[in-house]
Amino acid sequence: MRLATFYSVAAAVWATQVVAQGAAPDPFEQWQKPEAGHVRGPCPFLNTFANHGFLPRSGKYITQQNLADGLFNSVHFDANISAFLFDFAIRTNPQPNSTWFSLDHLSRHNVLEHDASLSRVDAFLGHADIFNQKAFDETRSHFKDVVNVESGTAAIIARMKSCKATNPTYSLSELGEAFILGETAAYISILGDAQSITVDKKRVEFLFQNERLPTQLGWKRPSTPFTTDLLLGNLDKVRAEYAKQLNSTSKGKRSGASLRLVHGSAITFA
Ligand code: HEM
Repeated sequence: MRLATFYSVAAAVWATQVVAQGAAPDPFEQWQKPEAGHVRGPCPFLNTFANHGFLPRSGKYITQQNLADGLFNSVHFDANISAFLFDFAIRTNPQPNSTWFSLDHLSRHNVLEHDASLSRVDAFLGHADIFNQKAFDETRSHFKDVVNVESGTAAIIARMKSCKATNPTYSLSELGEAFILGETAAYISILGDAQSITVDKKRVEFLFQNERLPTQLGWKRPSTPFTTDLLLGNLDKVRAEYAKQLNSTSKGKRSGASLRLVHGSAITFA
């Protein structure tokens, strides 16, 4: 009897080991801090994907295929939206006509990187590519338990005002402004619900502060693909709220009509 128990326990242990050895490691559980020689940049999400190994852990030499695979496997982006984002990303590689970019290229000020970030100080004041708790504390002070278009936009406008007051070189191009609105639409949609455009504040705090996907808070890879239309549609809603809040704080000096999103191969305002 004892021998039989021994054999059945041994068989169970052996079977578990075989399964464990054969199973591919789950990248959602394979988070690692960047090592010496690895590079990271101003985008908390791309840094996160590299920390999980969805993008090269080095943060370097990211090709269109690396990006498409990484964004598909981590957050279910379809191939078109990855191609759309890749076209922006390679503009930051100082080498002309390159076919790859590295995460630190994204830090080049005023190519894509802009003033008034949610979690970074302005380039004039410090490292615009490194997470800054004080800047993010200001952002999250505008969040309630659930972040939505209204509170996400209020955070953007608050950061714009305080950066403008403390940075004598403060500037924001139309592309920078479009990026800010798109980044907010993206983080709410990807970490929360892309239809209602709402997200649990804790997930946002977790990702920004740890550069790690919030699986331990119940987040899962979205089951439906995220597309360019979904991004631009949600960006439109953030833009409308942004125009509304700006108009109410600047006594109508800035017209919402001047912010019209042109859907196409690039995000521009007309
Ligand atoms: C190739 C793809 C991407 C590129 C080239 C890119 C580029 C950038 C850059 C340059 C910034 C810095 C902007 C600044 O100055 O604050 C940034 C910030 C940001 N990105 Fe990405 N990004 C990409 C993908 C994503 C994805 C998939 C998400 C998903 C939600 C995302 C969300 C954000 C957010 C929320 C910020 C704001 C950070 C802050 O203001 O502190 N990005 N991204």
